[in-house]
Amino acid sequence: MAPFDLIIFGGTGDLALRKLLPALFHRYVDGQIVAGTRILGLARDTLGDEAYRERVREALQKTLADDPRSPAALEPFLEMLGYRRIDLSADTGWAELAGELSDESRVRVFYLAVGPDLFGSVGARLQAHGLTGANTRVVVEKPIGHDRASAVAINDALGKVFDESQIYRIDHYLGKETVQNLIALRFGNALFEPLWKAEHIDHVQITVAETVGLERRASYYDKSGALRDMVQNHILQLLCLVAMEPPSSLAADAIRDEKLKVLRSLSPIENGATSQLTVRGQYRAGAVEGRPVPGYLEELGRNDSRTETFVALKAEVRNWRWAGVPFYLRTGKRLTDRMSEIVVTFRQVPHSIFGELAEPIYPNQLVIRLQPDEGVKLWLMNKVPGPGGLRLRRVPMDLSFAETFGGRQPEAYERLLMDVVRGNPMLFMRRDEVEAAWAWIDPIRAAWEASADAPKAYTAGSWGPSAAVALIERDGRTWHEDAV
Ligand code: BG6
Repeated sequence: MAPFDLIIFGGTGDLALRKLLPALFHRYVDGQIVAGTRILGLARDTLGDEAYRERVREALQKTLADDPRSPAALEPFLEMLGYRRIDLSADTGWAELAGELSDESRVRVFYLAVGPDLFGSVGARLQAHGLTGANTRVVVEKPIGHDRASAVAINDALGKVFDESQIYRIDHYLGKETVQNLIALRFGNALFEPLWKAEHIDHVQITVAETVGLERRASYYDKSGALRDMVQNHILQLLCLVAMEPPSSLAADAIRDEKLKVLRSLSPIENGATSQLTVRGQYRAGAVEGRPVPGYLEELGRNDSRTETFVALKAEVRNWRWAGVPFYLRTGKRLTDRMSEIVVTFRQVPHSIFGELAEPIYPNQLVIRLQPDEGVKLWLMNKVPGPGGLRLRRVPMDLSFAETFGGRQPEAYERLLMDVVRGNPMLFMRRDEVEAAWAWIDPIRAAWEASADAPKAYTAGSWGPSAAVALIERDGRTWHEDAV
């Protein structure tokens, strides 16, 4: 890959230091980032290049152990880094930046690791300084708005400056290896696709469970809550990849068109239906991984917040393929385990020939594990070996990524950042997708806000409020970790 310029607005922030720079470092160690590349961190602080490199050096300490080649690569990588002071709301620093980036032939990526309220003004200044040419790409992070109207406003502001093909809206879940593997599994094997429909699938579960709490992000999180923070983006993107029709190719728009159709087919959850189909919770003090942790309100330092830290909902995709198949979605903070997975449960055998068995015949399940231990399991009924009659047991065919492929699993941002540089938007969200996702989320939010009910309390370290269990058990099903 030719040398490029990557300019990070918010270069001293948490995202840059914790995710972006470590990801770039790994790509450098692998030889994908070549000499002559420039990575500039931009922020308001007065810092020199050396002081910035020192901060990055510190931030990279944890990643040095990941790869034996890393320590030797650290200093040459830091040499590519620079720091520029810039004021996002005034004209300071922009002309100098434009002077440095005047070579139009180089790929130039602006990463806006700043609040969405600044996207428009940063874009306008880049334009005023002639920094929006054809080789320019801009990356924006969530949250892209807090509802559909604000997302439209942000997209309009970006659209005034950049062509849609230059805008890369990141959802880092799409960069996770197992998420991409879902595309490989569905469309690289003839086995699943004929069964991938209501006729053969009983239901789908998507769980993204976290053990962390507020993590110094109180002011953002309290305004957002789990529905906006996780469901609008990550979980709906996963749902799209499970539910979409086969795209005709891997071309970005071929995939994004199919995802958009899924989002537009989601059955609206409005008004009265909200109390039937959704559960929201907020954690109270408890213990996570053996450590006592405070409740959400204590962490926040206020006792009047109704922000949800847990959501469970029952969604439905209204089309021929999925009619009548529930998609149970749930996510929460301070749950028992850090665990994310997609579980596709197939239908029961139509008739059992086995008579009275010690173990019932369980439906087959395909479990796609995103984290912590990435892999795929296909649960099948098998004969228990031995002469004592035909006894069956449920056992998994187990594909562990670590065992099968070995080595380090790359972080999502590694793939995504390199895709931006290469100009491949396949794993990024198009404007209409983001807006369609909000259009489904907004009525749920509105019904919650209009309701007198507060989120249900759950103990930190549990699997969320009991109402979430009731949501699925009402339908005669259970959440996956409860399955035998
Ligand atoms: C972010 C959310 O988008 O994803 C966080 O804002 C959440 O609240 C994080 O913790 C989870 O990402 P991962 O990759 O750790 O599952």
